[in-house]
Amino acid sequence: MSKPKVLLTRRIPSSALATLDAACDVDRNEGDQLSPDQLKARLSDKEGVVCLLTDAMTADVMDAAPGLKVIANVAVGYNNIDVPAAQARGIVVTNTPEVLTDATADLTLALIMDITRRISEGDRMIRRGAWKGWALDFMLGNELSGKTLGIIGYGRIGRAVAARAVPFGMRVIHSDVQAVPGSGAIPVDRLLATADIVSIHCPLTPETRHMINQAALARMKRSAYLINTSRGPVVDEAALVWALKNGIISGAALDVYEEEPMVHPDLLTLENVVLAPHLGSATTETRTAMADLAVRNAIAVLTGQSPLTPVS
Ligand code: DGY
Repeated sequence: MSKPKVLLTRRIPSSALATLDAACDVDRNEGDQLSPDQLKARLSDKEGVVCLLTDAMTADVMDAAPGLKVIANVAVGYNNIDVPAAQARGIVVTNTPEVLTDATADLTLALIMDITRRISEGDRMIRRGAWKGWALDFMLGNELSGKTLGIIGYGRIGRAVAARAVPFGMRVIHSDVQAVPGSGAIPVDRLLATADIVSIHCPLTPETRHMINQAALARMKRSAYLINTSRGPVVDEAALVWALKNGIISGAALDVYEEEPMVHPDLLTLENVVLAPHLGSATTETRTAMADLAVRNAIAVLTGQSPLTPVS
């Protein structure tokens, strides 16, 4: 019996590739990101696609793939996929929750430590030869103990961040974009006004796009920091630049951007911001687990079984 045809849009770890190769006839893209037209052409005869968050799986692309049964995203976020369009066409969409929770929560804590203790700022100073030596009042940051961490989006990653923050002596408050009665969530406006550090962990949806805008930033304490490891467009970058330049908030640490890999040019000039290149899940262990899970999802659907982690 012939194997189902699958498009793999980018390189994945060899263990996951071996699993996919064993079960499917794989068309691998080894080069740069495929353009929408290339995606359409390569998908025209495929039943499955294992893709990344940088591949825009639009209704248009799906229409070019009449035999498509599964879109297996190697990411927990799936804002790159038009899920209603997939559902309308009977295409199963899967993502990779859980396997990246610890890595993303770890990176969030790293960013919190970096911006509050000015590590990257100090690194830049040393590299440009500007460090004059130790002084009692030199480059003072802020401690975490006794501070309030406000988590927006209290799902798996938000909770994992909270679990890491408590041993540092932080108090944790949280908000959910859609309030769940009895969950302990407080309104976002109250969280913004109360927290010393605001960390975003909600998905990108039409309602969370630019949720952190000028008005939201103006509600934060002037001494507060903003951390974003979710999706860039949740934060209005131009508004953030305004807030950082005008002392509306103290600093920000970002792992994600509105137009990746572009970064608002003014952010590059500011000292009170830490910029990481979308590294939330970027550990060997986690990226391997993500690819394995995506491949197993694709194979499950293509062999008539239930996907392990479908997007509902
Ligand atoms: C995801 O899985 O959505 C992450 O952003 C990847 O790092």
